[in-house]
Amino acid sequence: MISVNPENLSERENYKFLTGSIIPRPIALITTQSHTGVINVAPFSFFNIVSSSPPMLSVSVQRKKGVQKDTARNALKSREFVVHITDEDIIEDVNQTAAELPPGDSELFLTKFTAIPSEKVSVPGLQEAKVRLECILEQAIPLAGSGDNPGCDLLIGRIVCYHIDEGIYDKGRIDPSGLKPVARLAGQTYTKLGELFELQRP
Ligand SMILES: Cc1cc2nc3c(=O)[nH]c(=O)nc-3n(C[C@H](O)[C@H](O)[C@H](O)COP(=O)(O)O)c2cc1C
Repeated sequence: MISVNPENLSERENYKFLTGSIIPRPIALITTQSHTGVINVAPFSFFNIVSSSPPMLSVSVQRKKGVQKDTARNALKSREFVVHITDEDIIEDVNQTAAELPPGDSELFLTKFTAIPSEKVSVPGLQEAKVRLECILEQAIPLAGSGDNPGCDLLIGRIVCYHIDEGIYDKGRIDPSGLKPVARLAGQTYTKLGELFELQRP
């Protein structure tokens, strides 16, 4: 085994260790809205469940040289965002939304996504996603970096409305083969759902 002290690694080397080993990561496609009404769309794989009661999720948005990304800035200001689960049918468009546009431009127009009004929040969602989670910002925690200069914004969202494609939903369960989730590995590599198997819990 190779043992490495993260303190001896550069930011890039740590990133490669983490994104190469914590895999596969689900991809949250997030919509937020600026105070001028611009709909921002961007993908995030530092994403997971935090709590099921109440339902909460986490997304970590890295800062770039100390500057917040549009998603974090908008979510902090409006305290609302919508998370969509990335699947095989939308992955090409999801990838397009990672384009770095100025805050006044919407990534929506780089894609075939259709904005759809949300029920509980003012930020619109994207119709094409099979699972859509309307969120209220529960907490935003600036983390890492040094002193007054955080390296990322950890967003904790409380889900206030689920939207699920009826074709993949049966008796309270979501069909993973119907959802066809796509997850991120390192760099530009992605993976689809692999072989499914069950294990009895002891
Ligand atoms: C599949 C995928 C996953 C990504 N995951 C993250 C992530 O977890 N955290 C992050 O800060 N950036 C992540 N990015 C990069 C952001 O999507 C990218 O910086 C984007 O331009 C941010 O948009 P915004 O400034 O509109 O918020 C990811 C990109 C891709 C393509």
